[in-house]
Amino acid sequence: MLKTALAREAARLIKSGMIVGLGSGTTIREFVRVLAELDPPDVLLVPTSIDTEMAAIEAGLGDALRPLWAVDRIDIAVDGADEVTQEKVLLKGRGGAMLREKVVDYAAGTLVILVEGRKLVKHIPERNPVPIEVVPWAWRHVARAVEVKYGGTARLRRDSAKLGPVITDNGNFILDWHPASPVNAALEDELKLIPGVVESGIFSKRRDATILVAGEDGRVYAL
Ligand code: 5RP
Repeated sequence: MLKTALAREAARLIKSGMIVGLGSGTTIREFVRVLAELDPPDVLLVPTSIDTEMAAIEAGLGDALRPLWAVDRIDIAVDGADEVTQEKVLLKGRGGAMLREKVVDYAAGTLVILVEGRKLVKHIPERNPVPIEVVPWAWRHVARAVEVKYGGTARLRRDSAKLGPVITDNGNFILDWHPASPVNAALEDELKLIPGVVESGIFSKRRDATILVAGEDGRVYAL
């Protein structure tokens, strides 16, 4: 399985004593499972979502968990992504965890991103909307502002398992924005100038990240 190959490769980078940021998503769940097999995984773990926290507890790593405020650094962060360009601009947030992911990924000494080859794209977004986390009270105002200024459509992400909008781990809503054309990296900062925007899924500031890609044959290479 490709996610397992990626997780094993990333686990080789984890050394005793490290403080490790854990991203979110199914690839990171697999990384957590593989990490739990290390003997002993003498590390501290900072999860970026309730989902990852639960995965770590279920894998037996609960004692190693720390909130971000309880550590003074992140040595390495391991995360997934939805789309990655050759220039190492990432689109994230299909799982809705991009705010905490960005805080941890940008703070990390080393950032490692795990993706399957199908996620490599020319421009973002190619197949996914650009997620924008917003203060709930402001959601419609922000959606309108994004559409008027940048075009496309911005829809409130709704929850398929309950009535109403998806609520993030931070108590916010998410807009899924389908721009009319590819976005450029500068939009990461520009979107945040709209009052009510908390964070977006555009990650353009870690061009130094190590991107580990799993090809269809299961071989893992660095972009
Ligand atoms: C969550 C994310 C995830 O990293 C991204 O959606 C990739 O997830 P998966 O590993 O399940 O494909 O950004 O907010």
